[in-house]
Amino acid sequence: MTVISEKRPIVPGLRPPEFGSGTPPKEELAIHGGPRAFRQPRGQPQPKIGTDEFLAIARRFGFQPDAMARLRGAVSVADLPADGPNFAKYRVGRPAPSAGSQFEAAAREYFGSPYALGVSSGTGALHAAMVAVGAGPGKEVVVPGLGFLATAMAAVLAGATPVFCDVDDSLQMDPEKLEACLSPRTVALAPTHHWGGVADMEPIIAIARKHKLAVIEDCAQSPGATYHGQRVGTIGDIGCFSISAYKIIGAGEGGLVLAKDERQFDRINQLAESGGLWRPDRFAPPRYEGELFAGTNYRMSELEAAADVVQLGKLDAVVGRYRQAYHRILGQLQRVREVRPQRLNDRAGVLGYLLRFFPRTEGLRAKLLTALRAEGVPASSPGPDTGPDWHFCGDMFPLRPYLTTASGPQRCQVAADLYHREIRIAIDQWWTSEDCDAVAKGINKVLTAYGAAVGHTAVGW
Ligand SMILES: Cc1ncc(COP(=O)(O)O)c(C=O)c1O
Repeated sequence: MTVISEKRPIVPGLRPPEFGSGTPPKEELAIHGGPRAFRQPRGQPQPKIGTDEFLAIARRFGFQPDAMARLRGAVSVADLPADGPNFAKYRVGRPAPSAGSQFEAAAREYFGSPYALGVSSGTGALHAAMVAVGAGPGKEVVVPGLGFLATAMAAVLAGATPVFCDVDDSLQMDPEKLEACLSPRTVALAPTHHWGGVADMEPIIAIARKHKLAVIEDCAQSPGATYHGQRVGTIGDIGCFSISAYKIIGAGEGGLVLAKDERQFDRINQLAESGGLWRPDRFAPPRYEGELFAGTNYRMSELEAAADVVQLGKLDAVVGRYRQAYHRILGQLQRVREVRPQRLNDRAGVLGYLLRFFPRTEGLRAKLLTALRAEGVPASSPGPDTGPDWHFCGDMFPLRPYLTTASGPQRCQVAADLYHREIRIAIDQWWTSEDCDAVAKGINKVLTAYGAAVGHTAVGW
């Protein structure tokens, strides 16, 4: 190989050697009318995502061989355009609306909310909401002592400090203890609608208005529940949902944020999609103070969104089935002196997939649990004999620095007591009336065997 050194002296009359061997014939440049070097590529493009990927998804989720054969027939590479599909929410130049925007439109309609953003998780939804209301370094957000650690963790992700408020016998944030949790640094209240129940929103909203605080509702465990006739998630300023496979609707991993205020919604978008694709002009300077800041990517996948449009369409029916079963059982239960039912902040509005009550003593809790299980009633309890649990603030070990302060779990004595004394019955939405009656009978058998009956009211508990 000839190596040309820049320092090589140029001898007059001697031309430096050309690259390669010999001198290639000079060809007319295309800009001077010569032939183009590269016209049509000979390589035949294949779709980025084709039959194999679709079938891999179907296989992953357990479709039977005959269904797979039908799917293969329906999803043929020949049907797919060369450049797609690419499963992206923001698809430039495509006429069909993205599944993400369809899901958001469906959510706006279902909840009657002016703004909705599909995101990749409930945690992402909460993080975006926290940042949107100004939670950040030096600020505090009040969260309930019972819920899920993601709510408090979202405040920490935003740079703020979570302050735990105790619960009452509804197991929801106790409005009477809320004001004692406030400080000049508080920017938001973030009640969780705990496990199919609803928080007592009227006094919570009143306290928020009085102190000019934002309200973020964590609805991950109670989508479709209502409080005084209004869907949870639309009562405060921002509603956050998880739509993961572990929730009552959801197909994989997803989340939803509802908002009422346009600027707050911009900030939710900026945190969740800092690529700026949400903006009318992506690269434009900020349109107003606070519009742009460093965010992350919590964009919802198109696969998730497509499934969630369908899931959202099923929510009312799911809620209806749970409520019917829950109320049918609740209405038959006998009161006994030694057992206190969970108080309901809105009896008609709860989702009702967990029926909960509190035996007076730890000893009674253990006896009832054993007897209920023997009757076939699906009872469980996070009692002292079970391990730590991220639904009780005292066990939220990833938040340890925030658990040792005066605002930590030691002020949540009711949560600690009731959570570890409760018995919960998991209601199945598919139970028939006979199933519900049999479960109610099993609970009554056990309650009256171990407790002193105090009568049976027309509405049961
Ligand atoms: C009350 C509550 N908030 C938030 C979350 C977090 O949702 P995700 O798992 O989708 O991030 C959960 C999930 O378990 C939850 O139960």
